[in-house]
Amino acid sequence: MSKKLCLLEKYKEFLPVTPHTPVITIGEGDTPLVRSKRLEHELGCGELYFKLEGCNPTGSFKDRGMVVAVAKAVESKNSSIICASTGNTSASAAAYGAVCGLTVFVVVPKGNIALGKLAQAIVYGARIIAIDDNFDKALELVRVLTQKHSITLVNSLNPHRIEGQKTAAFEIVDALGDAPDYLFIPVGNAGNITAYWRGFVHYKQGGRAKNTPKMMGFEAEGAAPIVRGKAVPNPQTIATAIRIGNPASWQKAVAARDESGGAIDSVSDAEILNAYRLLAVKEGIFGEPASAASLAGLIKQVKNGASFSNKKVVCIVTGTGLKDPDTALKSAHELPAIPADIENVEKIILQS
Ligand code: F0G
Repeated sequence: MSKKLCLLEKYKEFLPVTPHTPVITIGEGDTPLVRSKRLEHELGCGELYFKLEGCNPTGSFKDRGMVVAVAKAVESKNSSIICASTGNTSASAAAYGAVCGLTVFVVVPKGNIALGKLAQAIVYGARIIAIDDNFDKALELVRVLTQKHSITLVNSLNPHRIEGQKTAAFEIVDALGDAPDYLFIPVGNAGNITAYWRGFVHYKQGGRAKNTPKMMGFEAEGAAPIVRGKAVPNPQTIATAIRIGNPASWQKAVAARDESGGAIDSVSDAEILNAYRLLAVKEGIFGEPASAASLAGLIKQVKNGASFSNKKVVCIVTGTGLKDPDTALKSAHELPAIPADIENVEKIILQS
């Protein structure tokens, strides 16, 4: 039986991997691309797919970039890494740092990070620095600190992160036989939209794809600096993962939009929560709120009159909903316990 290749092995010709780069893996990449069962028809798409990035080992797409950034840090003999994060980057840095025996520092905005993500950083053994400010400030701090000290920055300002994350685009082309017509994706710090675009372009240049998709990025309405054309000093959204007012890869995201003929727009918290619920109840997919911004964007486009009939559309579901139990439970009613007998349980079943 042939050994299944890990991400660093499988795509090494497209990655900054040398004979000295350690081949590390905890099972990242190779995530499912599932065909929609119900929303495809309801939204009138030719074909609609969801890329389930929550199936990565720490539950988000960050693992693709982190495995490359951490492998390169180890190759350069660095023993500590640091990141600013709204939660997923810190969980991923903590996990890959742990497997390589590195010291990991994560700087997070206090009170605005989903519970599951904080739990991950704690259990993986990271040193957690919670600041009384937002992600943008945290990123500013780690940028300065990594210029002063020999700690590797593993935010997407680190080019190896973007290189690793572009492998998701490769997987989509490998699965569909070519690029889709449209790619819908949430936008926060704008690294991921940059990475996907680079992946599609590199695959086309390498002769592995004929086409590239239109890149359709969606920010949260209260945290939409690219849409507004200016930084947002106090970003607000229920989708804490993308609560970012001054994205590091702003210009690269704009380039991805323009070169692909796509768009960057925003979706409200109500639209995000509606898509979050529809993904679960119509497709059986539990994504975290930020990751529903892609479907929210598609629904918004359809409502505004766009047609995707005869088109192949992919929505990226960037992280698992299990990370954010608070948001999931907010919409639930108090669950009173009932006496444990057949009659009481049966009564409820018959009433439904
Ligand atoms: N979706 C999820 C679940 C995220 O965690 C993030 C970013 C994004 C989308 C947006 O991706 O920043 O590349 O545009 N999370 C970062 C973090 C900021 O710290 O975990 P982006």
